[in-house]
Amino acid sequence: MGIHFGVDYYPEHWPRERWETDAKLMQEMGVQVVRMAEFSWFKMEPAEGEFHFEWLEEAVALLDKYGIKSILGTPTAAPPAWIIEKNPEIQPIDRQGRRRHFGGRHHDCQSNQTYRAHIKRFVTAMSQKFADNPGVIGWQIDNELGNSHGDLCMCDSCKARFQKWLEEKYKTIEALNDAWGTAFWSQGYNSFSQVSTPLITAVGENPSAMLDWKCFCSDLIVDFAKWQADIIRENCPKHFITHNYMCFDNKVDYYDLGELLDFVSNDIYPAGHWQKQPHQPESELAASHDVIRGYKKKPFWMMEQQSGMAGWEIMGRALEPGQMSAWAMQSVAHGADAVVFFRWRTCAMGTEQYWHGILGHSGNPGRIYREAKQLTHTFAKYMDEFEGSMPNPEVAIVHNFRQNYAFDIQPNHPELRYVEQLYKYYKALYEKKIPVDFVQDMDDLSKYKLVIAPLQYLMTPRLEQHYMDYVENGGHLVLTMRTGVKDAANLCMTDRELPGRLGEICGIEVPEYDCLIETTGGVLYGKKEYEIQKWCDIIELKGAKQIAEYATGFYKQSPAVTENNYGNGIAWYVGTEPGEELMEDLMSYFTQESDIETLGAAADGVEMMTRESEDKIWLFVINHTNDEQVYHLHDRYTLLEGEKEEFLKPYEVQLFEKNKS
Ligand code: GLA
Ligand code: ZN
Repeated sequence: MGIHFGVDYYPEHWPRERWETDAKLMQEMGVQVVRMAEFSWFKMEPAEGEFHFEWLEEAVALLDKYGIKSILGTPTAAPPAWIIEKNPEIQPIDRQGRRRHFGGRHHDCQSNQTYRAHIKRFVTAMSQKFADNPGVIGWQIDNELGNSHGDLCMCDSCKARFQKWLEEKYKTIEALNDAWGTAFWSQGYNSFSQVSTPLITAVGENPSAMLDWKCFCSDLIVDFAKWQADIIRENCPKHFITHNYMCFDNKVDYYDLGELLDFVSNDIYPAGHWQKQPHQPESELAASHDVIRGYKKKPFWMMEQQSGMAGWEIMGRALEPGQMSAWAMQSVAHGADAVVFFRWRTCAMGTEQYWHGILGHSGNPGRIYREAKQLTHTFAKYMDEFEGSMPNPEVAIVHNFRQNYAFDIQPNHPELRYVEQLYKYYKALYEKKIPVDFVQDMDDLSKYKLVIAPLQYLMTPRLEQHYMDYVENGGHLVLTMRTGVKDAANLCMTDRELPGRLGEICGIEVPEYDCLIETTGGVLYGKKEYEIQKWCDIIELKGAKQIAEYATGFYKQSPAVTENNYGNGIAWYVGTEPGEELMEDLMSYFTQESDIETLGAAADGVEMMTRESEDKIWLFVINHTNDEQVYHLHDRYTLLEGEKEEFLKPYEVQLFEKNKS
């Protein structure tokens, strides 16, 4: 496509006379694309059927004159007041049974057919209007679907739809009663019409019902997006359709949503005021980029990258010189084909008047603008070549939304979070400069030398077989605590000791376990004692060899980590959550045994990542710190950008290349 840098632009917040100045400044900065209009329904349709697209056509044409293309957002995350006045029932109901009202955004119920009809009218008109506009290249559906839809909607429309969804899934009410284990607490149903959306109960909830509810909500969001994608495709077959994801967010199964889209986009705010301060660790950002690439196994776009201080009522930290550029090139290193900065100019009104952009309130180009310009001018020339290329990791971490939902419903330990657990494994690899893919459990795993599958809690015979085949055929697999606990309906399995049939490849059984509430434990690995957290599986060896043992608890000296040869492969079982140090050392062992290459050696704030085309490999070395750093590469590359090999200035990004032999 040849488009690689852009900004999110809201011309409707500014006088018409300013637009040309914006376009000129953007062009000088190297902006090739803007995203617009994703919150401008009222401006485009101030009363039912009265369309006013002139202002947007004018903005598109003006930008096009400066060589800047447009992506248009469908504004369905903010239906205007006249729609709400006419159809107040489209506002969502929360779990307390309260209506959520107009005045913010996302005040919509996604199953409501009246709302769907409003969307159909509007999106049809908008997509027809811009179908042949030479300035428009694509669409973003809605905005961050699932965001602000806390617990989604409990209204009557959603209830009816949930009942229908359950009926399609279970066919008979007896089958639902079995799957939900409704013998417990007299929860049996006589008919689907008795099943409610999960309004707040007096106490407790049914974990199987909640799992279905979360899957239903995800399907509903996908259906809501498809409703729009179908309209756009019918009217604008030439344009691409994307959506701005939120990293690991779990309101919608992003793999399913990705099937509707031409490519996936992502939003990141590493120094958002809600993040760990001063900013989200770059290893977490790297993991986000890797999972985003994994959702469609394709390069992606950054549709919103933080470019200034973040804030609603309170604000986060200011960006240090070079930091934004390092984040931008980090996403490129992990597979982004384009980076769009949020936002062009800091706006003066509304909830986000402190959400800063490339330009401040005054609109004068300053430090951030100069930095962005320098970035595009340095890297634009390589971006065409990178386009379509992908990282090619030897290690995969398994990621799955249903597991995530199940741990949301029952964390087992009060602080256990599914994504955080994946991330702990990821971080150890990241710091060793080992690239990682995120994959879904049933994906073909055979191309990976090492697969790490934490918390395989919900288990099916098919998935068991899949993992067994992988190891049998020579794969190296890491399984962990809380594996094989439940069936697909979120009921505990009772026919075997944990971890079910996977015990055969691991050569173990787990007849007991301990939850480390408000305490930590210890493990002896080699000659050293390490901290462990949250959980201890009490393991019996059935052919495996012990590689670490507990140093605490009544199960002291029993196995904590095990290794088993199975077929041509190896299965490791980690019965606890390793503290950071143990994680590092275990991962050194697993990766060495699996013959995994590391890209180089450097301090933790220095990142190394590669992208490969058919004949080339590009290596990015990124300094995420405000200090000078040194590093060492394990392979020979030619330096394309950067001052001095093996040395980095604060926040410097270096680019290398080599030909594939
Ligand atoms: C999100 C949204 C944007 C904007 C920014 C800043 O990522 O997609 O519309 O609200 O956050 O808050
Ligand atoms: Zn609803």
